[in-house]
Amino acid sequence: VEQKPSDRRMLVVDDKANMRELLSGVFEEHGYQVTTASSGEEAIECLLLNEYPIVITDLSMPGKSGIDVLKAAKSVFTDTEVIIITAYGSIERAVEAMRYGAYDFITKPFQLSEIERKIEKIQRKLDMAGSRSIYTSVHPGVQHIVGGSDQTKRMLRMITKIAPTRSSVLISGPSGVGKELVARAIHEAGPRRDYPFVAVNCAALAPSLLESELFGHEKGAFTGAEDKRIGRFERAHLGTLFLDEVSEIEPAIQTKLLRVLQESEIERVGGSDQIKVDVRIVAATNRDLQKAIELGEFREDFYYRLNVFSLNVSALKDRRDDIPSLIDHFLRKYSHELGKDVCEVDDDVVEVFLNYDWPGNVRELENIIERAVVLAEGNTVARNDLPAELLQSVLLKDLHAEDAEPRKVDINNDSLIARTDRLESELIRGALERFRWNKTRAAEHLGLKRTTLQYKIKKYQLD
Ligand SMILES: Nc1ncnc2c1ncn2[C@@H]1O[C@H](COP(=O)(O)OP(=O)(O)OP(=O)(O)O)[C@@H](O)[C@H]1O
Ligand SMILES: [Mg+2]
Repeated sequence: VEQKPSDRRMLVVDDKANMRELLSGVFEEHGYQVTTASSGEEAIECLLLNEYPIVITDLSMPGKSGIDVLKAAKSVFTDTEVIIITAYGSIERAVEAMRYGAYDFITKPFQLSEIERKIEKIQRKLDMAGSRSIYTSVHPGVQHIVGGSDQTKRMLRMITKIAPTRSSVLISGPSGVGKELVARAIHEAGPRRDYPFVAVNCAALAPSLLESELFGHEKGAFTGAEDKRIGRFERAHLGTLFLDEVSEIEPAIQTKLLRVLQESEIERVGGSDQIKVDVRIVAATNRDLQKAIELGEFREDFYYRLNVFSLNVSALKDRRDDIPSLIDHFLRKYSHELGKDVCEVDDDVVEVFLNYDWPGNVRELENIIERAVVLAEGNTVARNDLPAELLQSVLLKDLHAEDAEPRKVDINNDSLIARTDRLESELIRGALERFRWNKTRAAEHLGLKRTTLQYKIKKYQLD
């Protein structure tokens, strides 16, 4: 896959507006799509949301520093190259930055040509590595959370806030929405990232097995226990233990877990030693735990232990603004995996995706795109590449919706969202008219990806 110049992305981080403007101006001229962040916190949020092969960051900023940005960049995408800008006096910290994997540092004041040269060098290196590295060099299992909806942005902000703590987190939401991905992001964005992330699917094991899986057992603890076994708790020491489908744990084991969480000590099955463990718990459920408590199937005290922070990941149909970036993300992923170059979807495919209810959520969207990339004949996904059932279900929904109110922007509504929507739709209409409905050019002019523009045209019914 050829890296188009528009795919050259860069993140510039500085608390000083003039430095941000200077650098983004220069590198936009060099053909980069530059995103700027005015604090370390904001930068880390951007890094969780998008891939930036190149990051330029100031070292000293109020709050999170350039070193924090560097660590976050390297943990989500190891191939990202980071250049640190530092005042003359803090060279020692710049050296520290090099130890954390910074590509280079530049001391203020600097000549623009100096930083241009360094970026050129990085770009040559990236070009040589090719776009192949984008997916192969990410830590195994680590993937970006993709999305553009307000819900997803809010969730990313939450993740960056809770990642540094060791409090338990309970993630809830229907199947396939990305709960495990969120759990991994919490681990990767925090200080435990260099230690294990250990996942246990609590629904997959019989209760007796789950107990020895979690806590381990001594040799001869029960029939069949021929050897001593280290449990997942011990394996997750200093890291994160992910309890998936936590609602399926038997009350007796819940009691045991509650004690472990209170005392940070475990006892292997059939053993009597207390073993100290330092583990952060992240749990996930697609069941309503409040209801399970009412039914007597889930211990209330255990629930409160787990639920120090709660994150709810909503169904995809309730955050449709994520759909265009997810489409692009999965097109890239499967094009690369399958050695094809399918980079676009037809307008009527966007329309189908927008109207479908996604009972299987992001997982279903991912599967449908994978299938479509296999079937696509050129580099565009056509309606024919979608499963018949999906097309049918959208058609049926249309029929039923015929009498219903059309989904329109209410011009009398004065809320901020309604006003921004109106403004956005006007700007898009203007650009489309100006470029005579050439969507590629209009998208470029608006700084939007083509898929996003297609989506917004449907959303505002501009066609
Ligand atoms: N925001 C997202 N960005 C990119 N990929 C996503 C996103 N959300 C989900 N995915 C992908 O969708 C698939 C399903 O996600 P995941 O396994 O985390 O869902 P889940 O909520 O744990 O589902 P289940 O309840 O069925 O276990 C995964 O391949 C995941 O990488
Ligand atoms: Mg899961």
